[in-house]
Amino acid sequence: MRDDERLRARLGERLREAGCLCTAPWRAAVEAVPRHEFLRGGFFEQLPGTLPTAWRPVLPDGGGRWLERCYADESLVTQVAGTVVPGDIRGEIMRAPTSSSTMPSLVVRMLEELRVEDGHRVLEIGTGTGYSTALLCHRLGDGSVVSVEVDREVSGRAAAPLGACGYQPELVVGDGLAGHRDGAPYDRVIATCGVLTMPGSWIDQTKPGGIVLATVGGWLYASELARLSVHGDGTASGRFLGGQISFMLARPHLPPPLGLLPDLGSGEERRTTLGPNLLTGDWTARFVAQLAVPRAQHISMTIEGRTQQILIDVEAGAWAVLTEADGGWTVRQGGPVRLWDAVEAQVARWRADGAPALDRFEITVTPDEGQVIRWPGGRRSRG
Ligand SMILES: C[S@@+](CC[C@H](N)C(=O)[O-])C[C@H]1O[C@@H](n2cnc3c(N)ncnc32)[C@H](O)[C@@H]1O
Repeated sequence: MRDDERLRARLGERLREAGCLCTAPWRAAVEAVPRHEFLRGGFFEQLPGTLPTAWRPVLPDGGGRWLERCYADESLVTQVAGTVVPGDIRGEIMRAPTSSSTMPSLVVRMLEELRVEDGHRVLEIGTGTGYSTALLCHRLGDGSVVSVEVDREVSGRAAAPLGACGYQPELVVGDGLAGHRDGAPYDRVIATCGVLTMPGSWIDQTKPGGIVLATVGGWLYASELARLSVHGDGTASGRFLGGQISFMLARPHLPPPLGLLPDLGSGEERRTTLGPNLLTGDWTARFVAQLAVPRAQHISMTIEGRTQQILIDVEAGAWAVLTEADGGWTVRQGGPVRLWDAVEAQVARWRADGAPALDRFEITVTPDEGQVIRWPGGRRSRG
């Protein structure tokens, strides 16, 4: 047995033991598709202890246990800053990841959650390296798979290993938020980039009874995997599946630049009982807060030795600054809307309803209202 075959079999076994690889057809796909072929261009590894994160390249011929790492249960970053690939640099780079091969346990968990059946047509959003596309091709046949990637270079790089493995899915370059009408209708839509709101196009292009699976998140970076069933009346509804899943956001859903900071010394100050742990810790509370202020971004700043947690909604021109004072917290807010007031009210309602976990929330998408998220007993929240 070759090294890569042995590593692949071991990965399949580990994913099965971990409970994310549950069915024989997906196990066969994991054992057949050579992930390393989709990572021949190398990947970036994180330098420990760096903030912002520094990345250095790991290349197939450069040591660094490239082959073993290709079969570890790790997400492997393959592009940073929108254009830079591992072969481009020698040293280190400190820029945000923009494409990756998702960690295999998450890839297979999502494929299992997609509940495909023989003969299904699938639309994938976010081709990336092409590894998950290849798994879909192995399971369903390449004639049943369409994969959309926004980045032409990334899509082009995925085509080569797909072809070398004998798969010829339809690869489309474009904004996957529009779906791919020419190939519709689909039985399943799966997104391997996150979204703020589920695009109506995905619902429109899915057959009644079909499924849309994607991670819904926001700019406070709490997100969750949602599975929606599509109904005959053009609406869709479903649940979050749990597990605190996060993905890089679809490029059109990335937050705008912060620009010039407002005068954070202006506005009105008061005490608040809700501390910034909400923004830095508790995942579900942060998700709930994000529903109340969907366009707000969070930054931390240290001024004169005191750390401040800041929420800014660039479009609305609104902001809130939390500062530690006398063992408690104050909030100073400015702009046309009071961001922290909205967060406090939303979190209070959620707590009054028993602080339900995310896997009890419902998500619906309708042509009239767009996406609506609600927890059991809770009022409706656009998100
Ligand atoms: C996590 S990676 C995909 C992982 C991939 N499925 C794999 O197995 O390698 C997310 C990808 O989504 C792509 N992407 C981001 N926004 C997109 C959009 N609006 N439409 C299509 N693809 C998008 C990114 O360029 C990136 O390649």
